[in-house]
Amino acid sequence: MCFCLLLLQTGKSHILTGYGVPIGSKESSLTVGPDGPMLLQDVEFLDELAHFDRERIPERVVHAKGAGAFGYFEVTNDITKYTKSTVFETIGKRTPIAVRFSTVGGESGSADTVRDPRGFAIKFYTDDGVWDLVGNNTPIFFVRDPLLFPLFIHTQKRNPATHLKDADMFWDFISLRPETTHQVMILFSDRGIPDGFRHMHGYGSHTFKMVNANNDAVYVKFHYKTDQGIKNLLAEEAANLTATDPDYGLRDLYNAIAEGNFPSWTFYIQVMTFEEAERFYWNPFDLTKVWPHAEYPLIAVGKLVLNRNPTDYFAEVEQIAFSPAHMIPGIEPSPDKMLQGRLFSYGDTQRHRLGTNYLQIPVNCPFQTHVTNYQRDGPQTMHHQGGAPNYYPNSFGGPENMPGLQRPKFSVSGDVARYNSSDEDNFSQPTFFWRNVLKPDEKERMVENIVSHLKNAAGFIQDRTVHMFSHVDREFGNKLAEGLKKYVNM
Ligand code: HEM
Ligand SMILES: *[C@@H]1O[C@H](CO)[C@@H](O)[C@H](O)[C@H]1NC(C)=O
Ligand SMILES: *[C@@H]1O[C@H](CO)[C@@H](O)[C@H](O)[C@H]1NC(C)=O
Ligand SMILES: *[C@@H]1O[C@H](CO)[C@@H](O)[C@H](O)[C@H]1NC(C)=O
Repeated sequence: MCFCLLLLQTGKSHILTGYGVPIGSKESSLTVGPDGPMLLQDVEFLDELAHFDRERIPERVVHAKGAGAFGYFEVTNDITKYTKSTVFETIGKRTPIAVRFSTVGGESGSADTVRDPRGFAIKFYTDDGVWDLVGNNTPIFFVRDPLLFPLFIHTQKRNPATHLKDADMFWDFISLRPETTHQVMILFSDRGIPDGFRHMHGYGSHTFKMVNANNDAVYVKFHYKTDQGIKNLLAEEAANLTATDPDYGLRDLYNAIAEGNFPSWTFYIQVMTFEEAERFYWNPFDLTKVWPHAEYPLIAVGKLVLNRNPTDYFAEVEQIAFSPAHMIPGIEPSPDKMLQGRLFSYGDTQRHRLGTNYLQIPVNCPFQTHVTNYQRDGPQTMHHQGGAPNYYPNSFGGPENMPGLQRPKFSVSGDVARYNSSDEDNFSQPTFFWRNVLKPDEKERMVENIVSHLKNAAGFIQDRTVHMFSHVDREFGNKLAEGLKKYVNM
């Protein structure tokens, strides 16, 4: 859609200052004579520049570049035996959603066509408040302890001295932490560069808990599979697009929706009982591993449809704030350390990025409910509670507890310590992926994709990385060593 059309839709109006006063001329500042100097009393000029000086807010520390859209989630299958969440209460029920797709490592102006995981975050505006499922296009992640997240992310960012992306930083960390192997293989496979945002799957990735009306709980994982079919870009196609159309993903999504070609995803869960979790081969909460589908089959639940573009990118996409901590009755966290770490991080960064009252911004506010509580005031408060009591308990009709909604009990025990997670099983799923999933041509491309990046790292880091991939399969290591030889004297 063309930009001038958007402007026409808003109709003619007059220019006002921020404080609502009409302006005679927006083209000329107030000066002494035609050649200046200017006057401090040109408050219209001051209003304009002071606002301009504050136009940018901090970009997201990760996932800074993204595209958003709106639509609905519709229930197609009954899972009320697993969850009392009202989102899933009846077949056919629709819940409004917002979705934001993103790349992870780059800045807000970076290209959509780089090799990087893609964020796939969904905000459900439910009858019980906001539920955010803040996932990626991969079912797993690089590390399994959240203390490593900022350290890992720094390896994806710029070298503190040169301000350049740095292959040494990346492969040094990767090869010192072999638990990254599985996610790195997915990243350097064909799926590492999806063709836009419509042709990829999404995953909640973590293990969550679902709780039903009897307060019985199971563990679940969320999957959302593209109805458009998987499509990826080859490395060379992507490099060309990075040069010619860096906003390829944003444009593709916007145009598809503007043309009425609404993308959709089928939504599934995997379910594991607590007894099965006790017996699972691995820690079922380890984010570097998947739950095998043969044993924990996908159960269809519903569909996600995106049918509306944002009308104001800043208001609806830049200011949107997703958080794994936003859960509704019937959905709870599992013990996954990574998830537990994320429960803190998002609200914390959003209070910095958007301000204390970020949940009052229209795109974030739980508009299906009306918030009444004892929180008050702070910068830019928009939601006032009209003189209702601001303390509890009170005798003046302030909002009350809902005892029926208390989360079911669970017990935990163990010795408090900083457990070293690095010596759990790092390689069995990567080995399965190499031997049983990848076809010969896919293996060749993965090797080539790794070589073309790893060749820029120091020799000892290359050696350690090849050694790491040899643990997946000796053939894999040999192919990498062979590929790197081409660059030895360069
Ligand atoms: C301990 C691990 C992690 C930490 C501390 C963390 C932290 C963050 C932070 C601080 C942001 C910026 C949020 C904002 O400014 O609004 C963010 C964004 C995001 N994260 Fe994470 N993250 C972690 C792991 C993950 C994982 C495992 C996934 C996917 C399964 C994920 C998916 C996302 C997505 C999709 C966004 C962008 C949301 C949006 O579109 O606004 N993160 N993360
Ligand atoms: C990428 O661009 C180059 C230079 O224009 C061209 O020769 C090549 O065929 C393009 N590759 C793909 C896959 O589009
Ligand atoms: C954790 O284990 C790794 C690998 O076994 C080891 O290199 C590292 O030193 C350990 N860290 C601590 C704090 O024990
Ligand atoms: C997993 O990686 C760690 C290093 O982080 C290593 O010490 C350990 O031996 C590896 N575990 C297995 C089973 O290979």
